[in-house]
Amino acid sequence: MTIRVLNRDEMAVETEHDVVTVRRKAQAVAHGRGLSTFAIAAITTAASELARNVLAHARRGTASVEAVAADGRSGVRMVFRDDGPGIADLPRALAGGYSTARSLGLGLSGSRRLVDEFEIETAPGKGTVVTVIKWARF
Ligand SMILES: Nc1ncnc2c1ncn2[C@@H]1O[C@H](COP(=O)(O)OP(=O)(O)OP(=O)(O)O)[C@@H](O)[C@H]1O
Ligand SMILES: [Mg+2]
Repeated sequence: MTIRVLNRDEMAVETEHDVVTVRRKAQAVAHGRGLSTFAIAAITTAASELARNVLAHARRGTASVEAVAADGRSGVRMVFRDDGPGIADLPRALAGGYSTARSLGLGLSGSRRLVDEFEIETAPGKGTVVTVIKWARF
């Protein structure tokens, strides 16, 4: 499947306010791509959870929010990148209920359930890249 990127907006994620900006951008692009109200809520929640993870676990990074198209479908892709510590135990982090920050440990597993495609590239000391896509359904 070839994914065409129609528009891309890359933002720094360094402050709580940046998390809000990424969330708003995700919401606006999802709306523009014709996602349902339910799908918009899902991608918006994933946007803030994944941006919050950049802040909480890596201190800073970037978020790219993209309008994409593939096979006549329209969607939103988001890429969160950081050069933080990486995730040592990815299966455990994805299982949910595991947090190195004394939090609930639900951001990653919850985000995964809320999107259509979810990929993580991470290794200890190598940072983390999380890519998610939500497609519009007609
Ligand atoms: N970008 C990241 N860099 C490094 N570690 C991360 C990153 N994102 C997630 N993790 C690791 O995965 C764990 C699980 O992430 P998850 O978002 O589910 O929980 P949390 O952020 O700890 O708590 P919350 O429920 O508030 O999101 C984190 O505690 C952290 O150890
Ligand atoms: Mg989290």
